[in-house]
Amino acid sequence: MCGIVGAVAQRNVTPILIEGLKRLEYRGYDSAGVAVIADGRLQLARAVGKVAELEALLVATPRPGTTGICHTRWATHGVPAERNSHPHVSTDVAVVHNGIIENHEELREELVALGYQFQSETDTEVVAHLVQHYIDGGKDLREAMLATVKRITGAYALVVISAKEPGRMLLARRGSPLCIGIGVGENFAASDATALVSVTSRIVYLDEGDLGEITTDGYAVFDREGRAVIRKEHLSNLSAGAVDKGEYRHFMIKEIFDQPTALANTLEGRINGGRVLEACLGPRAAELLARVKRVRLVACGTSAHAGLVAQYWIEQIAKLPCRIELASEFRYRDPVIEPDTLFISISQSGETADTLEALRHAKTKQLAASLVICNAPESSLVRESDIALMTHAGPERSVASTKAFTTQLMALALVMLLLARRNGLSEDQERRYVKSLEAAARQVDEVLKEDAVLQRLAERLIAKEHALFLGRGPMWPVAMEGALKLKEISYIHAEAYAAGELKHGPLALVDEHMPVIAVAPDGHLLEKVKSNLQEVKARGGELYVFADREAGFKSEPGVTVIGMPHADELTDPIVYTVPLQLLAYHVAVLKGTDVDQPRNLAKSVTVE
Ligand code: G6P
Repeated sequence: MCGIVGAVAQRNVTPILIEGLKRLEYRGYDSAGVAVIADGRLQLARAVGKVAELEALLVATPRPGTTGICHTRWATHGVPAERNSHPHVSTDVAVVHNGIIENHEELREELVALGYQFQSETDTEVVAHLVQHYIDGGKDLREAMLATVKRITGAYALVVISAKEPGRMLLARRGSPLCIGIGVGENFAASDATALVSVTSRIVYLDEGDLGEITTDGYAVFDREGRAVIRKEHLSNLSAGAVDKGEYRHFMIKEIFDQPTALANTLEGRINGGRVLEACLGPRAAELLARVKRVRLVACGTSAHAGLVAQYWIEQIAKLPCRIELASEFRYRDPVIEPDTLFISISQSGETADTLEALRHAKTKQLAASLVICNAPESSLVRESDIALMTHAGPERSVASTKAFTTQLMALALVMLLLARRNGLSEDQERRYVKSLEAAARQVDEVLKEDAVLQRLAERLIAKEHALFLGRGPMWPVAMEGALKLKEISYIHAEAYAAGELKHGPLALVDEHMPVIAVAPDGHLLEKVKSNLQEVKARGGELYVFADREAGFKSEPGVTVIGMPHADELTDPIVYTVPLQLLAYHVAVLKGTDVDQPRNLAKSVTVE
């Protein structure tokens, strides 16, 4: 949700911190702040709003320093205000924090009784005073950090500096990701390696419960007792280009147009001779899949829509009982998980708190295996699952998820085919499905060429306050995804219904003010959808139908048909999602909203 960057160097680190922060801003963007140590004193600058506000402040009043930390915030405790922005400080100590300190109230009482004065309403400020308290008692920064993490409960990625020990930075990770970046004569900390792309590609990820220390000379990782532990160094293959907008106006439109390549990348190396390679699920795949008798999926947001599509596929094609559930519901209702369940979590970031807790809960049961579909290789969900299938979509920066969703569908289709093969799907049928998966990237490319059509369509929606999306079967979650995109970034209220439910309620809403958008490919449900649409037309509703060019739908007064390439029932959800992404994007651009960073939202939701 929030983003952290830290640096210890022999040069001024403020520009490095600000550049890193800009790369993380998509994660949270209601305020930002920086603290550096200069001449043995802490210098603080914080501003409400985006990183650009902080940058402007630093132009007006520069804060150079060789040790510094910074943060971009998405408010949890306390309104977005300067006093609640990170870093939080005590006398000599400055702290940035992602996550939630659960026992902050009792710690606050204790620290107030000791004479520490609080400036903010945040949970984080207790950490600054607690570290200071231990330093005041004679400990050095490292000892103070060790003592502090023993007192706090909850989830955290913490980075702490002390003016008394310039050139030193302490890190702690529990429940929120944190990594160290290794430079030459300088070292870095970040909540996401993306932030460090312009300074280093050598990354060490902290494990759950780890503490870390960086100086200009090196780094160390240790456990809660202060014992040194070894963590592997990774070479990040992110390039600055991969995380920049390039020629595009927004990250969202770049990421929509990334999809043909991203989809091809998801398939790369996983298909051979027209069949899915079981090895794409790792060396234990055969043994683990052999046990599977049923499938349970959990996810949040857009990823949950991918799971809903997969639920249709897994029952219809793989013939296994399957259920998808929102992770936030699953984790608190003590669900019955039968033995031999394949537990699949789906997450772009791999750090969504509810999804991670759902996995941890599921792992207490007798699973056949846990599998994650994910886009972040070093994430918590990947580390904690038996099997990880990476989507290889490349970094996704727009808060509204696009290429992560379509590549999740691609990855889920691969898993489904592996399950189906073990459950009677013939080699010929598998080859037919694989062929259609291989064709999807090209079909998405064809849809992208119709961008101007979607732009014109968007002009007809900008004055609307509501919209209804309809689909049937696996296209119902596609309608949900279309509605979610529109509401997230254009703030138009949009709802999705299974088309068959129309007459059980939502039809009452249909009049000339309610555009109805239907995704109706040429499948076995086409005739059913056509009659649902007649119900809308008969009530004066304005219809927009995305349909196969060959399906015989014609535009007429009140009905606009947008022709789509002929795909396969398996890949229709991938192909038909793309025009809905474009439509939402153009409506938002025309309305002038903040497309990449819509109000109140965050990219990676690491709190429940
Ligand atoms: C947030 C994002 C969504 C995303 C959801 C789940 O709400 O804004 O775009 O779908 O989290 O995130 P995940 O990383 O688990 O897919």
